[in-house]
Amino acid sequence: MKYRQFGNTDLKVSEIGFGTWAIGGSANVGGVEIGWGPSDDAVSVQAIHAALDAGINFFDTADFYGLGHAETLLGNTVADRSDVLVASKVGQKIGADGKIAIDYSKEYIIAACEQSLRRLKRSHIDFHHLHVARLHHLQQGECIEAMELLQQQGKIRYWGASLITFVPEPEAAHLLALQKGHGFQLVLNLINQLAVPIMRQAASQGYGIIARMPLQFGLLTGRIKPGANFSSEDHRSYRLTPNIIQTTTDVLRTEMLPLAKQYNCSLASLALSFVLGFPEVSTVIPGIRTPQHVALNTQGLVQLSATDHAYLQALFERRWQPVMQLMQAAG
Ligand SMILES: NC(=O)c1ccc[n+]([C@@H]2O[C@H](COP(=O)([O-])OP(=O)(O)OC[C@H]3O[C@@H](n4cnc5c(N)ncnc54)[C@H](OP(=O)(O)O)[C@@H]3O)[C@@H](O)[C@H]2O)c1
Repeated sequence: MKYRQFGNTDLKVSEIGFGTWAIGGSANVGGVEIGWGPSDDAVSVQAIHAALDAGINFFDTADFYGLGHAETLLGNTVADRSDVLVASKVGQKIGADGKIAIDYSKEYIIAACEQSLRRLKRSHIDFHHLHVARLHHLQQGECIEAMELLQQQGKIRYWGASLITFVPEPEAAHLLALQKGHGFQLVLNLINQLAVPIMRQAASQGYGIIARMPLQFGLLTGRIKPGANFSSEDHRSYRLTPNIIQTTTDVLRTEMLPLAKQYNCSLASLALSFVLGFPEVSTVIPGIRTPQHVALNTQGLVQLSATDHAYLQALFERRWQPVMQLMQAAG
């Protein structure tokens, strides 16, 4: 495993991190599935141990994944090991009407952080995200005050924002202008490269970068074929429409498979290696559920030539736009 510096902080993070959304298990809030369907805690724990054995030291979680279950699992398994770095997120909750609510009040952020620390069994969170904060929350300012207070109190070491999938700039630009926070989480994969310009600006200002969804929910591994069925508790059942799967499969066959063959690697390794080919990225966090995922996502990574990396960047405009638009429509 290779390690990279997280921006200007003293955190040294594994190039491959562990995305814990799916191990949170099924969760339904007000009729909306917010998880990936049922998960087996025993297998999830094995996956966490396999990740530690493979040198993964960066775990990305959120208080909303499995409504706290992902944090609990992580807390029960790694607790306060000082060689493990934990990033969590705050801002989503179940509202009084039973539906998903957003709360960026100072009072809520501080109380929710205490709850996260309790579930994680840790004295501090290494990197805490504002999970879905929009520009108006940042402009209102309480969430920034809360994060700075938590940092002063030693409950979080560093903080930042997780940027919106299809419109990543506004919140990042606001924090960069104020020089607030220490890093961003953003979507970066072969299909969705919208965050590249703001990522470059942030990294040049010393912010750490966490690249999420490198496999676009598994689509970029080639394992999701036309006709695929997802459990109704898996958010992919409404996000990955037949049209998206078919259009992706065509691009994988014509553009990605030949390159994977040339590098003698899997499509998953090609997708991860593409993201790691951006020097601005500190860590890339595939969603991991099993020890097999750990092996597949840590072995076989390749160093793409500058020409091939530029070619894959160019495909964003040339080939992936139809898939991007379909995804934006699916939400
Ligand atoms: N707003 C936010 O802050 C936000 C939003 C989304 C995600 N995240 C974070 O980013 C992490 C990663 O994102 P993600 O889970 O959505 O997407 P992802 O990494 O693009 O896809 C993960 C899924 O791909 C499949 N997979 C993983 N490795 C594979 C491999 N080598 N070969 C074949 N299939 C493989 C698995 O599906 P199967 O289990 O079906 O095999 C896995 O659940 C999350 O866990 C979470 O920590 C944050």
